[in-house]
Amino acid sequence: MKISFATPSMPRTGAIVAGVLSGRKLAATAEWLDRQTGGALKRAMSASRFRGERSQILTILAPQGTGASRIILVGLGKAGGLDALGVQNIGGGIMAALNASGEKAAVVAVDPVKGAAAASELAANLAYGALLRNYRFDKYRTREKPDDKPALNTLKVMVRDVARARRLYRPLSKIAEGVFMTRDLVSEPANVIFPVSLTRRIRTLTKLGVRVQALDVKQMQKLGMGALLGVAQGSAHAPRLVVMRWNGAPGANDKRPIAFVGKGVTFDSGGISIKPSGGMEDMKWDMGGAGVVIGLMRALAERKARVNAVGVVGLVENMPSHNAQRPGDVVKTMSGQTIEVINTDAEGRLVLADALWYCQKRFEPRVMIDLATLTGAIIVSLGHHYAGLFANDDKLSERLIKAGEAVGEKLWRQPLGEEYDKQIRSGIADMKNVGGRWGGSITAAQLLRRFVKKGVAWAHLDIAGVTWSDRDAPTVPKGGTAFGVRLLDRLIADNYERKK
Ligand code: BES
Ligand code: MN
Ligand code: ZN
Repeated sequence: MKISFATPSMPRTGAIVAGVLSGRKLAATAEWLDRQTGGALKRAMSASRFRGERSQILTILAPQGTGASRIILVGLGKAGGLDALGVQNIGGGIMAALNASGEKAAVVAVDPVKGAAAASELAANLAYGALLRNYRFDKYRTREKPDDKPALNTLKVMVRDVARARRLYRPLSKIAEGVFMTRDLVSEPANVIFPVSLTRRIRTLTKLGVRVQALDVKQMQKLGMGALLGVAQGSAHAPRLVVMRWNGAPGANDKRPIAFVGKGVTFDSGGISIKPSGGMEDMKWDMGGAGVVIGLMRALAERKARVNAVGVVGLVENMPSHNAQRPGDVVKTMSGQTIEVINTDAEGRLVLADALWYCQKRFEPRVMIDLATLTGAIIVSLGHHYAGLFANDDKLSERLIKAGEAVGEKLWRQPLGEEYDKQIRSGIADMKNVGGRWGGSITAAQLLRRFVKKGVAWAHLDIAGVTWSDRDAPTVPKGGTAFGVRLLDRLIADNYERKK
């Protein structure tokens, strides 16, 4: 499917999409089409519930007076409410309607709307939303009937200032490349994506100028990463720790980079503390945190972001076997701190303990943000609508929340504190890896915090509830969401990028 921009002209075939504001107020193109069709649009509206509310859709098939096979009216809502995110959602809704329709070609007319952003801006965001919604992970379908496949080949967005729309769309389409890479990685099954094969996928970023380096078992042993290696030891797949560096602001005064650390458990069976079999297939996406870090680095490199950023991902598979670590084992982390492993299914924090420490020791970041599908408890707390945010720094926390609101990836801050930290005291080691039944996401974050050095602004995003979705959303088809890529790209663009 190809998305392009063009100056307004009426197509002779295919679908035409035109906007209608709240209260059935036709935008210019819809008004023109209504006249061409002898009032078919207004008649159709009054015969339906379509009022022009945001993202409402009304299809008029084979209208007389135009060559179009259908006219799709899309509700724009109130002009004042047409912010970037709202327009992206409208674009996503249009894409879903078109893909369901069987049309091969469509044009969308983006008219100037009084009281909203410029039409070129609306057009770019509409195209971006359509692009995001059009994603599909179908590489393993070999017998799909044509009628079950999306048919759309071309989507043309018509707008007067084509050059400006294209210019605004470019960086957005680059961010989408990162989002799609993350969705692909998260969707892949665990027999395809395991630490070594995931490392190969990461290496494809080198052609965009990202420097990639992978540590193997020997190197990690030498560094003393006993916690990460303890999780990995039960699996036939060897672990990796992979570092990605994007230096888009060479010579910046502040050499300390912004760093992202991801949990990359390519399959989480629970280990000896094995999980129940129902739903265990979901644990192929327990590398979602790493997937976001990888997709983010891709997005930054694709759009040549003027920032120095580091990504570190700890890649392991958590399996039971005669080599697996046992409940009660004590492991020594790279930091020197020891952890009693009460539950081998609380493995993400063990991986992150060493990945976070390595990241700080090597790069001395000023800001460090980790992402992990860390706890089922965060889903109990927040459901699937917010990710959990934990931070030792109020300013960073506020910036993250704001970036999340702007892109529709919402965060809700959770508490940290001494009381919770006490829950992970161990009888025989410096800490244990679980804190009991209550406040499970917080005690997990509390363990991570013990591996954050003084002077580092740190945030932890528990994305267990938002990494995978069972239902379509306007710009996120069901499946892997890539929640975090757009959010962190926006965080960087708004706060950490050097000005041109
Ligand atoms: N990967 C899971 C958390 C998870 C659960 C992610 C559901 C996505 C959906 C994590 O490794 C885990 O198993 N956590 C345990 C921790 C417990 C043993 C303290 C959990 O949440 O049950
Ligand atoms: Mn687990
Ligand atoms: Zn896990």
